[in-house]
Amino acid sequence: MLVVFVTNVLLAAISFGQCRAVINPQQSFLLNPGSQSSITRELQLGELNFLHTTDTHGWLGSHLNQANYDADWGNFVSFVSNFRHNKIGPSRDLILIDTGDKHDGNGLSDATAVNGEVSTKIFNEQDYDLLTLGNHELYTEENTVLEYFSTAISDKFKDAYVSSNVEFVMENGHLVPFGSKYRYFKTKNRKLRILAFSFMFDFQRANSRAKVTSAIVSLQQKWFKKVVSQYPESEIDVIVIFGHMPITDPDNHEINQVHSVFRTHYPNSIIQYFGGHSHVRDFAIFDKYSTGLQSGRFAETLGFLSIDDVKTSSPKFDRRYIDFNKAQFSHHSGSSLQTEKGAKLSQKIDHLRKELKLNDVVGYVPSTFYMYSKPIDSKHNIYNLLTSKVLPTLKSDKTDESKSRFTIINTGSIRYDLYEGNFTKDTEYIVSPFPNDWNFVEVPFSLAELVAAYLNDGPVLLTSMRPPEVRKRKHLPRTCPFRYDPALRKGYTTSDDDGCNGDDVIHNTELVFEVPNVVQSVELKNTNADDKVHLVFYSFIQRDILRALNHLSGKEQTSKKYTDADCCNYGGPSTKELLKQYIKGV
Ligand SMILES: *[C@@H]1O[C@H](CO)[C@@H](O)[C@H](O)[C@H]1NC(C)=O
Ligand SMILES: [Zn+2]
Ligand SMILES: [Zn+2]
Repeated sequence: MLVVFVTNVLLAAISFGQCRAVINPQQSFLLNPGSQSSITRELQLGELNFLHTTDTHGWLGSHLNQANYDADWGNFVSFVSNFRHNKIGPSRDLILIDTGDKHDGNGLSDATAVNGEVSTKIFNEQDYDLLTLGNHELYTEENTVLEYFSTAISDKFKDAYVSSNVEFVMENGHLVPFGSKYRYFKTKNRKLRILAFSFMFDFQRANSRAKVTSAIVSLQQKWFKKVVSQYPESEIDVIVIFGHMPITDPDNHEINQVHSVFRTHYPNSIIQYFGGHSHVRDFAIFDKYSTGLQSGRFAETLGFLSIDDVKTSSPKFDRRYIDFNKAQFSHHSGSSLQTEKGAKLSQKIDHLRKELKLNDVVGYVPSTFYMYSKPIDSKHNIYNLLTSKVLPTLKSDKTDESKSRFTIINTGSIRYDLYEGNFTKDTEYIVSPFPNDWNFVEVPFSLAELVAAYLNDGPVLLTSMRPPEVRKRKHLPRTCPFRYDPALRKGYTTSDDDGCNGDDVIHNTELVFEVPNVVQSVELKNTNADDKVHLVFYSFIQRDILRALNHLSGKEQTSKKYTDADCCNYGGPSTKELLKQYIKGV
């Protein structure tokens, strides 16, 4: 979960506060003498150790404009190998887990003819012990079929791939489990007996080649009763429940319901959860024998969790969020060397980036534009950039532009901050991956000017592939002390059930501002209440626009009812294209 959530009103109080971080000099560790210093919190190794990734969304080629996350998948493969050799050794165990969402968000996965065609192969070079799928493996048939055949039933992963509540639909219509429904195995060194399950959140929009059964329903089914009777509490040391489900779920409490069912069957077992989907760093304590870890998004975070004193009545859990960069990888593994396999993989990624022309420079971004960490009216806010500079460049090729115009976009259509530096083909996939069509409706000025405010008062718009973190921010997270030290970099400061000390690198606080559902660009030519204006919007929020118009105008007897028939195609380039053209011209 994110640390600080402020409204504009609170900002003043925080900015002027004297909240300098107190750092114990004995813990400090200079990574790159001469450059910025970092202070690393060490990993607390246990008998049983886990490394966890989730929601990588194609980010296997590192973050070229962000030093905090400069490791690529080859560096990660090298890290795990070095870490296993130097730190785990023969007396401990390591389990490597991923919890899905491997597409949509980066050119490396999205720029190939078949989405994920090559990135899947790169991802699968990592030697996961447990892996599964996320909802982004279930939007298109193409992705689902690729995931099933290239990963779920592959020779390498057919034992490791677990999905307890998702089924694949074969071409003949038969349902088969998407991998194994569970996995029982003994760890290599300490021979700990592990029983693993994987649950996807209750996702209702899967394509026709997959079927998701809610976790709670699937736990009532025969297969689960059979597993419970085959592996009673006496036959296991640790239950691992990993899957594409947030570990803190204040709306639906889905994971808590799963936990209740498991506790009725396994009252005294250690149950360790690994979650995903909401794109946050998070750690939850469920009870004395059970915790959950969630490891962020976009290969920014490598999650670490250890359990010590596994076979005693007071096991110890310890979590750490590792910044996904080369310096932290070499620090925690005791080696900065790439393995042969890792080096080859980094090379392969470089080649692929070139082949897909992801490095091709379109323009230069003069300074970073943020989604959350600058206020919406700041000139460093990306939505402000869009509404003040980019959307006004939209030209219709379907209608005249003599009327005043309101252009409304949903904020969920932007996926990532726009970083200072080269704007490349990859940047397009990263910042605004979704293409859009513009529609418009002609309405009185007095009505048009109320629409955005109405939509921002209501619930989050349920458009396709909306990034879930936007919704998450509606919940006020617990906060950590504000930190500012010139020697530190900006980055995550995570607040979780174990406090504010989970991040391996101590960062300066990044503020998080509330983002509305929609933002609008307003270009006025005349402002009489009855004058007709053009209200322009993404075709995929048309339902919400009509709902707003009918609600707002519905109070008058004579009011018109707006329907799809009133909406026409506006034409013109997508926001993604407009942004590119704008940056080109800067
Ligand atoms: C940015 O683009 C320029 C021109 O193509 C190139 O010379 C430079 O190396 C690029 N910078 C980075 C950090 O990739
Ligand atoms: Zn995701
Ligand atoms: Zn997801």
